[in-house]
Amino acid sequence: MADTAQPRRKLKRGGYNSTVETKTKAKIYPIVLYGDPVLEKPAETVTVFDEELRTLLDDMFESMYSAHGVGLAAPQIGIAKRIAVVDCSFKERPEERMVLINPVIVKQEGKQTSGEGCLSLPVFRENVTRANRVTVRAQDGYGKEFETTGEGLTARAFLHETDHLHGKLFISHVSALKRDIIRRKIKKLAKAGEWKYEPPE
Ligand code: NI
Repeated sequence: MADTAQPRRKLKRGGYNSTVETKTKAKIYPIVLYGDPVLEKPAETVTVFDEELRTLLDDMFESMYSAHGVGLAAPQIGIAKRIAVVDCSFKERPEERMVLINPVIVKQEGKQTSGEGCLSLPVFRENVTRANRVTVRAQDGYGKEFETTGEGLTARAFLHETDHLHGKLFISHVSALKRDIIRRKIKKLAKAGEWKYEPPE
C-alpha cells in the first residue's frame, strides 16, 4: 500500500520498472505494475519457514521503504506466495513493523473511508471504504502463529495486503466508472511507454 501521508508522486519514466542499486545487503526488488498477471491470481500458501524466507522478508521491507510504501505483498515483487509486510509508521515505531505470512482476516468492525493507493498503481489514489478495526491471524517468519488487531491505517493495510494475496487490487473497491477512468489513463501511459503493461480486460 502506498504511503498515504506522502503527497502524490509523479510517475517517472522507467522509475517503477527498474531495479534500484542499494548500499546495504538488502535486495531492492522492482515493484510489479498493474497489468502483470501475477497481481491478479491467488498466491500460494507458505509451508517452508527457512533462512531464505527470512532474507526475502528483509528484502521486502527494504523494497517497500525504497518505494515509499507502508505495505507490500509478495506478488508485487513477482512472487506468488502468501506473504506481506506492513509498517504504517514507516520505520518510526519498530512494533508496527509486521510480517504477515498466510494471513486470514478473522474479524472486521466499524467503517472508515479515506484515500488509498497502491505501489502497483502509482499516482492513482481513490477513496475506499473499509472496516476500521481488523483482526488478522497469520504466521511470522519462523512459522509461529499469532493474531493482531489494527485500527485506522493499520486495519486498512491488513485488508489491502490480504486482498493482494487473493489477487485483488484496491481498484476493485471503487466504482466501475472510476475504475474505467484509471484503466483508460493507464492505456495512455502504456502507449507513451510509461507503463509496462496494457490494463487487463
Ligand atoms: Ni497494494
